[in-house]
Amino acid sequence: MTKYRVTVDREICIGCGACVGICPENFEMEDGKSKPKKKVVEKLSCNQEAADNCPVSCIRVEKIKD
Ligand code: F3S
Repeated sequence: MTKYRVTVDREICIGCGACVGICPENFEMEDGKSKPKKKVVEKLSCNQEAADNCPVSCIRVEKIKD
């Protein structure tokens, strides 16, 4: 089954919160920066949209297989 790995480069994240606004089901703020609630998801849902809208492009969504 296809799965997706979701990662946030917290060195680059500026904590704008757009990802949490767009995709609260899988992003939350921790110490002023974003972190994915789940690092591996079975459905893209809003994760890709969050990545596309991050102003510093620090969210990666990549397809993986198990
Ligand atoms: Fe950070 Fe980008 Fe979200 S800057 S808070 S990962 S939209």
